[in-house]
Amino acid sequence: MKSTGAQPVRGNRTGMQTSPELAEELIEGAANAAPSSDGGSEIIAESRTDYISEGFPLGSMPAMPVSEEADADEDQAAMAVFLDKLSERLAFERMGVRLYEALLNKCEALGETKPGPTLEDIRHIGGEELDHFLMLNEAIETLGGDPTVESPSADIAAVASMGIMQVLTDPRSSVPQCLQVLLTAELTDNAGWELLIELASNLGYDDMREQFETALTHEEEHLQNVRDWLSDSVMEKARVDES
Ligand SMILES: [Fe+2]
Ligand SMILES: [Fe+2]
Repeated sequence: MKSTGAQPVRGNRTGMQTSPELAEELIEGAANAAPSSDGGSEIIAESRTDYISEGFPLGSMPAMPVSEEADADEDQAAMAVFLDKLSERLAFERMGVRLYEALLNKCEALGETKPGPTLEDIRHIGGEELDHFLMLNEAIETLGGDPTVESPSADIAAVASMGIMQVLTDPRSSVPQCLQVLLTAELTDNAGWELLIELASNLGYDDMREQFETALTHEEEHLQNVRDWLSDSVMEKARVDES
């Protein structure tokens, strides 16, 4: 999805059916062209297997905080998992703030559209993402962890969500297109909080579990709103004029 810069906008000519004669030529050319290298996808798989078998992990956790109650190895391992997932949510909520900032920027530039979120709706959701980020920051510190650590799961969350941010900050994307990718973010957000609630409950951190449940309530609302705005705007565009 590269920007076309100042080039004039032309019609979409990607479909082969726009020119059946040239399409035949293209197929013929492809059939006669020799591959640039030997082998197919199996060679790629073999090469990947070589790297996989080297067994390098995707990042690591720093030394764990030593807690008085949790000094057994198993407890330390459980704490490492908890901190890794807390760090992941922290990264995701931080990104959530930036996603809604980008949406706000877009809607301010384009003007509010109906159906769709109001500027106030966007500020409200972005504010809750920020509250979640701050709450997680505190939770990690309470456990003796370091909120500035980028854990393996936080790293993966950041990489996985890069495309979402790209769509939001692309000057050409429309509000419904942004809502489509925000749906991916909010679905992940909801599932992420559910898992954290399970973890906190399992490890006996009841105060945290309650805070996470409140965050999940917000996230359920975000998800429902994004779903509704998206479906309303798509249906509006696809509406058959019956008059
Ligand atoms: Fe969130
Ligand atoms: Fe959210």
